[in-house]
Amino acid sequence: MIKKFSYGSPFDTEAAVLQMEAYRGNPSIGTLMIDNTFTFSYEMSKDTAVYGLGEANRGINKRGYIYESYCSDDPHHQEEKRSLYAAHNFIVIVDKKPIGLFFDYPGKITFDIGYTDYHRLTVTTPTADITIYEIDGNNIYDIVKQFRGLIGPSYIAPKFAFGYGQSRWGYKTKQDFYDVLSGYRENGIPLDMIYMDIDYMEGFKDFTINEDEFPDFTDFVNDMKKNHIRLIPIIDAGIKIEDGYDVYEEGVLHNYFCKKEDGSDFVAAVWPGYTHFPDFLNKEARDWFGLKYKFLTDMGIEGFWNDMNEPAIFFTPEGIETVKKACENFIKADTTVQNFWGTGGEFDNIKNWAEDYARFYHNVDGKMVVHDKVHNLYGFNMTRAAKDGLDKIMPEKRVLLFSRSSYVGMHRYGGVWTGDNKSWWSHILLNLKMLPSLNMCGFIYIGADLGGFGCNTTSDLLLRWLALGVFTPLMRNHSADGTRYQECYRFEDINSFRAVINVRYRLLPYIYSEYMKACLNDEMYFKPLAFEYPDDMIARETETQLLIGNEIMIAPVYEQNASGRVVYLPEEMMLLKFKNDGSIEEKNLQKGHHYIDISLDEVVIFIRSGKCIPIAAPAQYVDAVDQNSIVLHGYKGASYILYDDDGITANPDYADNIKTYFV
Ligand code: GLC
Repeated sequence: MIKKFSYGSPFDTEAAVLQMEAYRGNPSIGTLMIDNTFTFSYEMSKDTAVYGLGEANRGINKRGYIYESYCSDDPHHQEEKRSLYAAHNFIVIVDKKPIGLFFDYPGKITFDIGYTDYHRLTVTTPTADITIYEIDGNNIYDIVKQFRGLIGPSYIAPKFAFGYGQSRWGYKTKQDFYDVLSGYRENGIPLDMIYMDIDYMEGFKDFTINEDEFPDFTDFVNDMKKNHIRLIPIIDAGIKIEDGYDVYEEGVLHNYFCKKEDGSDFVAAVWPGYTHFPDFLNKEARDWFGLKYKFLTDMGIEGFWNDMNEPAIFFTPEGIETVKKACENFIKADTTVQNFWGTGGEFDNIKNWAEDYARFYHNVDGKMVVHDKVHNLYGFNMTRAAKDGLDKIMPEKRVLLFSRSSYVGMHRYGGVWTGDNKSWWSHILLNLKMLPSLNMCGFIYIGADLGGFGCNTTSDLLLRWLALGVFTPLMRNHSADGTRYQECYRFEDINSFRAVINVRYRLLPYIYSEYMKACLNDEMYFKPLAFEYPDDMIARETETQLLIGNEIMIAPVYEQNASGRVVYLPEEMMLLKFKNDGSIEEKNLQKGHHYIDISLDEVVIFIRSGKCIPIAAPAQYVDAVDQNSIVLHGYKGASYILYDDDGITANPDYADNIKTYFV
């Protein structure tokens, strides 16, 4: 059962799609303190666990730290960080009985989950205008399913988007893209997508093409398609200020950009230099921006990634003035250590500066709303603009779409990637731990930058990360300009890379089927062991393994120089090891702890007791996966319900597309 509580005058975030009556009283658990601010407080017992918060730092069980939902362009995801790119304010408190709580609040909101006091959970907002949904259910899955019913169905990606994709910030010329294509194809490593970062544009201007490098863009897109490759361009939030640039001029003319208090268009620097931010909270501006994607779909493009939409701000003219003043004072004053660090720090302070977010306004149904009060809705509404536009442009087709920033509700319009991580071993685990929490909030098409975006990767790190990426719906290798190249064919052990990525294509019928079931039935694709085995103390605390769909468990290796790892089996399971030569080793294992050898070129899965899964022959791209090559692996007498469809038709029907297979 879902109960809605509303306090003050909450902003309508449009996260929820179910309409229901709101109460003023207290939720059934915790206490409220409402004055100018709002605090929900709950006393946790020794064993209380708290799950959720979607794309957030640290563990699956969020207890013991403090998190701030405030979409932030911060590429340094160290353990102490409180905010990442997204704001997903849904938690499930598990005491004797689980309770779900969604704090629907579009500004900054703090979840202190036993950080200040290990026994207390407090949720605080700076104003007391908030809606809370309390969800009561039989177990965590039941609560998640009801929550998903409340916030609406998940975005469904096209089937080609389940292939492997290569990306890098720095591909500039047609030749760069053809080099990637031949690097993969000549080495027999599967590939379906190559991503286009900001350099395909002219001067980093959205909805333009660098004509010098891509004079015949449509032919280029089509030629790539003949090679079974989709090009997936980036779209950034900021629109370059430049006379003669149609998007800029139309935006100014129709008042589609965010404004300052004096009515002028707000100015902030991002990749193109000074830009204006489209006012995605204004429906007219959304409609306008969404149809701009037609510029690229007309040239054959079928997928996009929306970036810089927290929105990221490098600096504003006001920020620059502050830095200049600090520098002038520094020049005049005696040089002290304090002066030196203080002045240097000013350069960092003005990035994504709170004062800038309080300086611009949205036009929401004719009312001016200051940005920082609704900050977390910006990326959500950019992707909503794109999806609504693409639905008008190509109503019958699914388009690949994912975003960096998001709020609950954006899952109806696109997937997410988890932003600028680093080539660190700890980030394999951070990637893994976010996956089920994102699923709880309806984000099913998800993935991280495999191999790490910042810093220099190593071939073993990339291989281990790819072995996790085999299971993430979005499987993309992406890296930053200036870092070591990390396309798979750049390394010595190409056979190992081929072997690992081949497993993705062999498991594609299962991965796609379980993904579609999760989307169409409001279920989770990635599940923590704690949700499935709540009475098993070891399973409850095992956060380095995940269940995927209903049939398998994974236990990726996440440490350098490890030739395997200890795996906990909460029930008897069948180990399947995909070996470099294409063979699959099978072994039945009893419940309990096991040390499993997993070399760098191997992928291991565990089939749950009594179940089976479909496995296809390897293929070089998604369309080449041969359904007739499917063989069932698993327990004798087991059956599997396979979902499959044409992979492109919008709004597919579950019942029409399932078939049962028996071992
Ligand atoms: C941002 C994105 C990253 C992209 C870069 C250049 O940092 O998160 O993925 O490569 O901008 O566009």
